[in-house]
Amino acid sequence: MRFDPWNPDFVASPYAAYEELRRDAPVSFFEPTGQWLIARHADVNALLRDRRLGRSYLHLATHEEFGREPEPEFQEPFWRVVRAGMLDVEPPVHTRLRRLVSKAFTPRMVESMRPRVRAIVDGLVDDFVEKGGGDLIAEVAEPLPVTVIAEMLGVPEGDRHLLRPWSADICGMYELNPSPEAQHTAVKAAAEFSDYLKDLARVRTADPGDDLVSALAQIEELTEDELVGTCVLLLNAGHEATVNVTGNGWWSLFRNPAELARLRDDLSLVPTAIEELMRYDTPLQMFERWVLEDIEVGGVAIPKGVEVALLFGSANRDPEVFADPDRLDVGRVDNPHISFGAGIHFCLGAPLARIELVESFGALLKRAPKMELTSKPVWNPGYIIRGLRSVDVSCG
Ligand code: HEM
Repeated sequence: MRFDPWNPDFVASPYAAYEELRRDAPVSFFEPTGQWLIARHADVNALLRDRRLGRSYLHLATHEEFGREPEPEFQEPFWRVVRAGMLDVEPPVHTRLRRLVSKAFTPRMVESMRPRVRAIVDGLVDDFVEKGGGDLIAEVAEPLPVTVIAEMLGVPEGDRHLLRPWSADICGMYELNPSPEAQHTAVKAAAEFSDYLKDLARVRTADPGDDLVSALAQIEELTEDELVGTCVLLLNAGHEATVNVTGNGWWSLFRNPAELARLRDDLSLVPTAIEELMRYDTPLQMFERWVLEDIEVGGVAIPKGVEVALLFGSANRDPEVFADPDRLDVGRVDNPHISFGAGIHFCLGAPLARIELVESFGALLKRAPKMELTSKPVWNPGYIIRGLRSVDVSCG
């Protein structure tokens, strides 16, 4: 099968197509999106660190100067939110925003959250096991990271049900060539989410609590748009991928029963298993970069003004870097996977994501040692944010 991100069969199993790309066309032009696909680990890794590329070009040129169409006006509320967060800006604005927010995400700060993460996991897993199982996505994978990031930001418990639908709607815009309907849904969600956060920030400014929105609201150099953009980014980035690592990860384990048994026998392997599950079935399959100066990749000239699509899922199966890459090995130690990115936009939440995943896999392995699938999971249609709609299991 060829690279075809709108085909459900490709989304369910893109790895054979990636193998072909790495071998025959590691740098290739993809007509339907007008992007250059980059398939090899060495190239993806190098381009993520190359300052001649950027998540945006708007720090250097207008849309017109860069030879691109401006976005339609109705999308303004969406881009206003997205372009105010650190992920979609480049230095010097990126440096300033990341510095302000990173204080809350140092490994020490995050480690201090482990007991609270563990308590949330225990509550969810207790209920799940007591019921004898159910949908792992809806009952454990989603509520865990949503609760953690919502508590961190200080979103009141009664409002948390709003977050996941807003986030899912916004993320619809990140897929390749989103439909007009998906675009309108994303814009509406961005506007509502933004209004909600502005209100919350006003409440916290008047009556600060021990949470991140209160802390951000105290920072004078942070504009209102930047505060909103940061919170939306943290809420979205803070759970979408984690949900999918949990779902994709368990599905990988069920398909590799010997590795699952090995893990159940030796829980000290959980940390390496989490890294391996993130490599083996990458939750975020592709990230894009604008080419800000003419470059050459693997002997192919790529001109300024176009976009490259970095195929993380392919890079993570590259035999040049990973021994026996199509084998799931929960004890793999030499594992420089690229699932958290690289360079200046390297995932700020990686230490938190790791804690959440180690705790939730660890608890389920321990508390539900006979957990098994009750039906074959179905993939969501998205390719870039790639995950399962549900994972139905019984706890035995
Ligand atoms: C397994 C879960 C996660 C995965 C696989 C993941 C992956 C990524 C990747 C690949 C990037 C870089 C995107 C690019 O270079 O274009 C990124 C950026 C980011 N992630 Fe994560 N992430 C995860 C969890 C989290 C969590 C839990 C948080 C926060 C609570 C978070 C916050 C962020 C932020 C703020 C950025 C932007 C960093 C910047 O632009 O400097 N992520 N993430």
